[in-house]
Amino acid sequence: MFYQNKKHIEWKKKNYVWSILHFALHWLFLSLIAAFALYINFGFTKAIDFITGDQTYLKCIFAVIAMLLMCFVVYLYLYFECRDYLIKGKNIAVFFFVIELSMIICLVMGRYVGIFARPSALCALLILLLVNKRTATFANFIFNILMLLTDILVAKDGVSIQVIGQFVTGLSISHLAVYLVDNVGSRIKVFGMGFIISLPIVAMGFVFHLDQSINIYEALEIVLHGFMSGIISVVALMAILPIFEYLFNVLTNYRLAEITDHKSKLIKAMITEASGTFQHSIVVATLAETCATAIGENPLLARAAAYYHDMGKLKQPIYFTENQHGYNPHDELTPELSTQIIRAHAKDGSDLIKKYHLPTILADVAIEHHGTLPIQYFYAKAQKFTDGELDIKDYSYPGPKPSSKIAAIIMLADGGEAAVRAQKDRTPERVEAVIKAIIDDRMKLDQFSNCEITMREIELIKEALVYGLSDVYHSRVQYPNKKDKSRNLFASSKENKNAKD
Ligand SMILES: [Fe+2]
Ligand SMILES: [Fe+2]
Repeated sequence: MFYQNKKHIEWKKKNYVWSILHFALHWLFLSLIAAFALYINFGFTKAIDFITGDQTYLKCIFAVIAMLLMCFVVYLYLYFECRDYLIKGKNIAVFFFVIELSMIICLVMGRYVGIFARPSALCALLILLLVNKRTATFANFIFNILMLLTDILVAKDGVSIQVIGQFVTGLSISHLAVYLVDNVGSRIKVFGMGFIISLPIVAMGFVFHLDQSINIYEALEIVLHGFMSGIISVVALMAILPIFEYLFNVLTNYRLAEITDHKSKLIKAMITEASGTFQHSIVVATLAETCATAIGENPLLARAAAYYHDMGKLKQPIYFTENQHGYNPHDELTPELSTQIIRAHAKDGSDLIKKYHLPTILADVAIEHHGTLPIQYFYAKAQKFTDGELDIKDYSYPGPKPSSKIAAIIMLADGGEAAVRAQKDRTPERVEAVIKAIIDDRMKLDQFSNCEITMREIELIKEALVYGLSDVYHSRVQYPNKKDKSRNLFASSKENKNAKD
């Protein structure tokens, strides 16, 4: 799923001009695809005759104008329903390239294999995984209408009942596929869905032969074409999806699963070089997943954001409490220098994530997860060395503040985990009091003014954190023999003096 930053972006003149130019370009591409349909059906010379012929040029003009109208419908939909999505040329490109590529594949399959072998669900499924369900259902209508237009263009003796039948079947099975594949976690299950969506196409194939007796080979061909439609839809989906993910840096649940795999490069580095930070990130990830589910955000995205939020600590892991085993290098540094090292991890993490071409939302969360919060421990330490006034800003993170609900969740899960870990008394009542204090503190320091989180959602996050943290510490009481293995997760309050780092 793509990252929706809910801030309303103000449209300027250049945004209108660029978005209209993008649409004009894709109108040209769609017209070229219509010409391609003529070429594969009639050959080059006859296609040219068709375009210039007295009787047929009107058909071409109709197809081109109809495609322009379809582009206009898409523009209106995106402008009024998801304007922030439309503002980026990359998003328009993803939307149209998926439609155009699916059209080319379907036209080739229809021409050389059979009209019912077209992988009609491919377009809707790609948009589902690259954008969202709502846009996928809309794109499905547009794609099928565009396919019908090209079928009308190349039809030699008027539109046959088969073309209308394929249009209706393609539209309905793709719609079904969107709901079947949505939230399916594994690629193998998606493959299984390919079989299910094939069945209505097989049935429709037989309906078109009801008036004639068919032999076993013809019956097998109908079955084969139906299954080819469903199976090729999902196989092409799995083959094409990574290309779109890479080219347009789009975030899908599959990509989220891949980047949170313990074998991925940065996570592997964290496990070996900053194991304490890694264990802390796992706890934050568990909490963040619960919080995201509670407020209707993507739990897999929350999990990935938690895994990467402290990636900047990789630069100098020993300066962070959870990676220290007795020796604390801050004892030899001035509070000013310690502050600089600690607060740099937010930006270092963001830079590292960008360097490895990981999704932008992860880099945003890394730099925003401490907002503009003060580093209390070193501020208090500095005060001991001076009689004068100290500016708290010099001992605070530079920001920016969280700009998405996911970043707000990570800020609260991170702070909540560190604060509860520092407590000796971890009864549910105490955990609730600590979480309430953490949330009140962040609100008092105006950390949520850049994101659209509501009071109701903050309340739900609080409940999820209290539940999650009580659960984590309850388990520890039940299994005291695991103490040594998890020492970094449940360090003593003394060890946790830099808990807000
Ligand atoms: Fe951090
Ligand atoms: Fe953290």
